[in-house]
Amino acid sequence: MSRVVKSAAFILALFFGSLVYGQVAPVARAPAIHPAQTVVARNGLVVAQEERAARIGIEFLDRGGNAVDAAVAVGFAMAVTYPRAGNIGGGGFMVIHLARDNRDLAIDYRETAPAAASETMFLDAQGNADPEKSRDSALSVGVPGTVAGLALAHAKYGSGKFTLAELIAPAIDLAEKGFQVEDDLADSLPQARERLKRWPATTAIFFNGDQPMQEGERLIQLDLADTLRAIAKNGPDAFYRGRTAVQIAGAVVKAGGIMSKDDLANYRPIERAVVRGSYRGYDIISAPPPSSGGVHLIEMLNILEGYDLARLGREESLHDMIEAMKRAYADRAVFMGDPDSVKIPVDGLTSKAYAKSLRANIGPRSTPAADIRPGTAAEFGGRNTTHFSVIDRDGNAVSNTYTLNFSYGLGLVAEGTGVLLNNELDDFTSKPGTANAYGLVGYNANLPGPGKRPLSSMTPTIVMKDGKPFLITGSPGGSRIISAVLQVIVNAIDFKMPIGQAVSAPRLHQQWQPEDVYVEPGFAPDVLEALEKRGHKIVATPPHTSTNSIEVTEEGYVGAADRRTRGSLAAGF
Ligand code: DON
Repeated sequence: MSRVVKSAAFILALFFGSLVYGQVAPVARAPAIHPAQTVVARNGLVVAQEERAARIGIEFLDRGGNAVDAAVAVGFAMAVTYPRAGNIGGGGFMVIHLARDNRDLAIDYRETAPAAASETMFLDAQGNADPEKSRDSALSVGVPGTVAGLALAHAKYGSGKFTLAELIAPAIDLAEKGFQVEDDLADSLPQARERLKRWPATTAIFFNGDQPMQEGERLIQLDLADTLRAIAKNGPDAFYRGRTAVQIAGAVVKAGGIMSKDDLANYRPIERAVVRGSYRGYDIISAPPPSSGGVHLIEMLNILEGYDLARLGREESLHDMIEAMKRAYADRAVFMGDPDSVKIPVDGLTSKAYAKSLRANIGPRSTPAADIRPGTAAEFGGRNTTHFSVIDRDGNAVSNTYTLNFSYGLGLVAEGTGVLLNNELDDFTSKPGTANAYGLVGYNANLPGPGKRPLSSMTPTIVMKDGKPFLITGSPGGSRIISAVLQVIVNAIDFKMPIGQAVSAPRLHQQWQPEDVYVEPGFAPDVLEALEKRGHKIVATPPHTSTNSIEVTEEGYVGAADRRTRGSLAAGF
């Protein structure tokens, strides 16, 4: 086992706030996975990474709001209470199932590149990809989409019982009165210290002296309260036009970026058709491009449908999953980008026939990455995004994942606004054949360009059975998001695990490049050894994902808050 338990480089650079490569961590020292917190409810359920926000969502459901109202309120609240990933300075994807019309849709509120962006913007003088530019400089800031996305969701799909201002009110209150730093906020602030301390406007909010705020201290965000109040009063225009837009563009330019106030004024959330697939009689509804999540989730499920995973047993089924991941992530590298700039063969990639052809060359041994497609080396994953799931008494469901990319994004607060800005543009491919921070190799389809949206892995998903939601799930974790969602679904459908168990079970991840299969603590050593004998390169990692999920059962809605991170909550009534 000793070979198995050595990790070459897994301390998550982004997660720990500074770039720390090459650390070795034995499995024995990796944190154990805490079992999910579960709750059963009849009328409504919110599962989110932060307790106050989850309770705010429940409050709106209890007052007669629908799942979209609750999701919008949670989205704004988490911009205050979970600043490492909850945001109004970033973007994401919301997948909605509307029970009454039996309709599904996705809201793409992914960030866009500014108009001055170019294909070469992240290259150094020698023409090589420069991670400093794409991850750590203000060039990495995309035009934020969250405010427009949440406002669109409310305006078109809210119950109509609440104004946007009412849904934002609890967030304003929390920003203004403050709240105690605890749980993941207390854990993540010190880890992000180095990135945050570069910006005086950021340390003024999140630091006490020269140290990040600590557990038990009170975090007050007065500028953010003002920005939220303006949005509550005047709608998204208060963010995308006028003073706030000038402040955001000004802060980006001052820090060396290229955003203009016109970029903000031109931002539009896009309503898109969901990506659809099926798996063993269930319907899969997930995020469309510019996220790769839905396409590759369905591609992997299609491959796996050809195997009787439950009968094959743990090791063989894990092998098949790893091989499916490898092939899907290789396709991701080549085909995926912004659908408004490149043609993506979504139908082909999600077809059963294509999956069959991929399955045909999966054998009993690990297929080397080079035998699938050419590429280069890779790095890490992370938990700097956040996913929440909501269902209401009528069976409307929302699956929402949003992010600033790294923990606290770029770390830069636009002065006077309280808004933490993302560094999402690292999700572009800086140069064909190079990898982003999550080790995801890309080619021409995902090069940066004016107004383009960088390719995402966010995979907010709703699994339907007989036209009704069965499972609502999604995750943070960079490249690991898609495989995490895959495993929750396979655990629930193939292995018939109740949702708490499906969420808690250890996960593994393979992304074509590198060869490594990343495994969380908790896998049986003999299973890992058997996988190694098949040629898989097993690398131990701590958890990087968090799948806050809901299952609809005969007993009611069951929520499972993933406890890989402190502070998550499944709240129901
Ligand atoms: O959109 C994406 O795929 C990434 N920017 C998500 C980043 C992420 O999940 C970070 N940490 N967990």
